Amino acid sequence: MLKNIFLTDFLPKIKDFFCIFCKFAYLCTINCNCKLSTKESIDMNSFTFYSPTEFCFGRGREQEVGQLCLKYGASRVMIVYGGGSVVRSGLLDRVKAALTASGLPYCELSGIKPNPTDPKVREGLAIAHDFQPDFMLAVGGGSVIDTTKSIAAGYYYEGDFWDFFCGKAKVGQCLPVGVVLTIPAAGSEGSGNAVITNEQTLQKLGIRQPMLLRPKFAIQNPELTMTLPEWQTASGISDMMAHILERYLTNTPDVQIGDRMAEGMLLAIMEEAPKVIANPEDYEARANIMWCGTIAHNDTCSLGRQEDWNSHAMEHEISAEYDVTHGAGLAVVFPAFLQYMAKAHPYKVAQLAMRVLGIVPQLPADANLNDTRTWPVEEQQRVAMEGALKLKAWFHDVLHMPVTFEQLGVPHPDLELLNARLHKNKGTVMPGYLPLDAETTMAIYKLCL
Ligand code: NZQ
Ligand code: ZN
Repeated sequence: MLKNIFLTDFLPKIKDFFCIFCKFAYLCTINCNCKLSTKESIDMNSFTFYSPTEFCFGRGREQEVGQLCLKYGASRVMIVYGGGSVVRSGLLDRVKAALTASGLPYCELSGIKPNPTDPKVREGLAIAHDFQPDFMLAVGGGSVIDTTKSIAAGYYYEGDFWDFFCGKAKVGQCLPVGVVLTIPAAGSEGSGNAVITNEQTLQKLGIRQPMLLRPKFAIQNPELTMTLPEWQTASGISDMMAHILERYLTNTPDVQIGDRMAEGMLLAIMEEAPKVIANPEDYEARANIMWCGTIAHNDTCSLGRQEDWNSHAMEHEISAEYDVTHGAGLAVVFPAFLQYMAKAHPYKVAQLAMRVLGIVPQLPADANLNDTRTWPVEEQQRVAMEGALKLKAWFHDVLHMPVTFEQLGVPHPDLELLNARLHKNKGTVMPGYLPLDAETTMAIYKLCL
């Protein structure tokens, strides 16, 4: 990167062949408003938005689970849950009672761990093939929901379900899925995604098939989240903020609706988060956070735009290797990613810094405040960097999240290993807000130290 800035600054004749930000091409591909930018040819993208999930939000709504299963065609239900929180809270008993009251027989798969793995999906598939459910019910968070979706996707497939995750096959038919959500974080209750770790290869990979994998219904009672420990609450908040930022960091112009929705959501989360940390039983704050976790990831704020997802890919390598909490890993990776972008490709980070994090730009009176691409690059970089550092301090001071590998409990990360696996899984150059090669991702991992 420095090499290209050098070329741009000091070799004016070569200047027109290099974009100072996009080092991979002679023609800029990232729409950074340089001379070579192909901005005019990129527009708000066409899109299809299919979000069939019925969201049932509010106190006591879990009582309706039996009726909802019936509504979506259930006659035999398979319940999936985690390591015991839903047993201790009494939620599982209430769910079972509601199914029984609706005349629905059920079987169950328990013990789903955070960062769920493939053996549990296979165990679930064996139970399912035996019991033959026609409806899958997840009672828990992202790990439980993703395991449930994977069983639902693998049920009709003759090969191994992992084929979907490693790209060998596409999901063709799927059992319907319902959710009783207990933690606002992954957003899987509204997303068409599932993420599973392969225990043997330590690949943590996702599938994204919204037409098939979005749940039929999601029950969201904020009261159910009051038993969450602070660590899980804060990790969930970090994750949903990352889901918004992955969509915010785009080079697609003219996506004002998505930008303003994302900024509004981030502002709301940053206002509500301290309330939830201070008082875990604050219903209003819990409710705001819970709904935000859903719309952060059900695509409403990313329609019509290119998305990034490279911070997530970088974090998935960390949680696959060291089994850390996904949201906590993102609290380490995302600020480092923004710090890097503040120098390398700052305009959108500067916009975030100004509109969400309150960093004030210093510009001439006639400057176009809202179009950060027209600002002098040095001012974009200054504002962006201040914003990145402010967000990092917020994660640390307000959410009490780790912001370095050491604070994450990984004092000696094997960066070479993480980086090699990252590019093996995601390709030599990862496309996105800024295309990332191995040198760039290593620089970002080093900013996490
Ligand atoms: O297992 P139990 O005992 O239920 O405890 C869980 C678990 O230990 C606990 N918990 C959940 N609700 C609780 C509770 N404890 C007390 N009271 C409650 N009400 O919280 C712990 C974490 O649960 P988990 O399901 O792992 O959390 P989360 O929703 O953050 O899911 C994380 C997983 O989702 C993936 C992540 O990579 C990770 O594997 N993601 C899935 C996505 C998707 N499908 O769209 C997108 C995300 O970016 C993410 O990658
Ligand atoms: Zn996430």
